[in-house]
Amino acid sequence: MTLDVGVLVSGRGSNLEAILASIHEGQLLGARVSIVISSAAGARALEIAKRFGVETEVFDAASLHLKRQEYDKLIMDSLQKHKINSTSGLVVLAGFDRILSQEFVKEFSGRMINIHPALLPAFKGLHAQKQALEFGAKVSGCTVHFVVPEVDAGPIIAQKAVEVEEGDTEESLAERILIEEHKLLPKAVQLFASGRLRIDGRRVLVR
Ligand code: GRF
Repeated sequence: MTLDVGVLVSGRGSNLEAILASIHEGQLLGARVSIVISSAAGARALEIAKRFGVETEVFDAASLHLKRQEYDKLIMDSLQKHKINSTSGLVVLAGFDRILSQEFVKEFSGRMINIHPALLPAFKGLHAQKQALEFGAKVSGCTVHFVVPEVDAGPIIAQKAVEVEEGDTEESLAERILIEEHKLLPKAVQLFASGRLRIDGRRVLVR
């Protein structure tokens, strides 16, 4: 059975593009992106979705002025229309810039993953690449993890290290990490789609 994936975006959409390209090229099997939902009307991610013929929905947070729960309900209803719910499908946060309500996170417990541009639990939150540079880390990277109510704290599915080079700027480090993100996220979706992931407390077992 093909896994229905809903991707939540807010901006550039390069990770969405990596997933769509992997499916298109036959490297990611058993999954299709059924809906791309954007929190911003002008997101480039929407153009990418359209280029791949994927349905999109925009809930422009800046103009809607909704309470968090009300806003999240819009997303939940849209996902449900595409058979993505508490028992089927997968939600991928790919550069989604909003914090989701506890109710939403609980609903998709074990069915929602996020990509973060650092080796968690180091450098949680915004500007992770800048945090790594400012801290003087020699190695950073990226992490795909299940989403839990606490931000960037869920069980880790996969990570990839990227060395910090002398003379790196936030941009240059982010660029090298992004190359790895584009490989790691489709791989994690593939593992989920083929039913190879099992959450055991804090650990994700890969069969
Ligand atoms: C990526 O660096 C991702 O790790 C972070 O937000 C950025 C999104 O980039 N969560 P894009 O929109 O996928 O290009």
